[in-house]
Amino acid sequence: MFRLDGKVALVTGGFRGLGRAMCVTLAKAGAYVIAGDVGPDEVGQEMLRAVSEAGGKGELQKLDVTNGEQVEEAIKELHKRLGRLDILVNNAGIARDNLLMRVSDDDIQKTFAVNVVGAINCSRSAIRPMMRARAGRIINLASVVAELGNPGQAVYSASKAALIGLTKTLAREYASRGVTVNAVAPGFIDTDMTKNLPEEAKKFMLTQIPLARIGQPEDVAAAVLFLCTDEASYVTGQVLRVNGGMYV
Ligand code: NAI
Repeated sequence: MFRLDGKVALVTGGFRGLGRAMCVTLAKAGAYVIAGDVGPDEVGQEMLRAVSEAGGKGELQKLDVTNGEQVEEAIKELHKRLGRLDILVNNAGIARDNLLMRVSDDDIQKTFAVNVVGAINCSRSAIRPMMRARAGRIINLASVVAELGNPGQAVYSASKAALIGLTKTLAREYASRGVTVNAVAPGFIDTDMTKNLPEEAKKFMLTQIPLARIGQPEDVAAAVLFLCTDEASYVTGQVLRVNGGMYV
């Protein structure tokens, strides 16, 4: 059950946080993982150590998902070298939280460039080899706030809602080619993205979670793993919510 032996998976933003947990989990299940990230090399190397400690294999790829040409070249190269690309996880994301009236043009542009355009760039380049293989998995990292809303996250939640639209459309566009496309929408998960929230905000968040705990990266990685497997071959166009009951 839930094995990925012989599969090749590209996880964007794979150096740390949720992406790191996904790389370890997918590699442990037998996939060869490529972590594409703009982050520092030493952070990626640490992730790779965790992959090999879990008995898995993978590599690092310097990749800025906002750069369509770079994405195209990187995916072409890895497909040529490894002979396949089975899984793409569009996980790279940024959050620049602020009340709408204080949001800058740069906040809007950068958030959409990474979260939305980045996922479109990677999906566009990955879809060709997947179509030719008549098999593939694309998973987009949305967020609970796309469906719930959250004061201070107008731009971020809009970008994550865009990913749900992208997911549903790509699911319909490529179903006949054997490619499934789903979203995973995490709730409040313990990573660098959330660690700097004020204590008060964290306490309030906990009151909103029926399971009464902050999620762990592994909770999200397990959902991603499921969607990558053969067992999930009849699941497409869905939003899998991993949020402790925060939004039901
Ligand atoms: P994080 O900030 O810990 O890690 C994000 C990773 O993406 C970093 O390694 C970073 O270097 C990389 N990245 C940033 N810009 C990039 C670019 N242009 N190209 C390639 N890589 C880039 O974030 P975290 O918490 O691990 O989140 C991962 C995903 O899950 C994001 O899409 C986030 O929006 C989403 N998410 C996270 C939640 C949480 O509670 N942590 C909740 C809901 C969604």
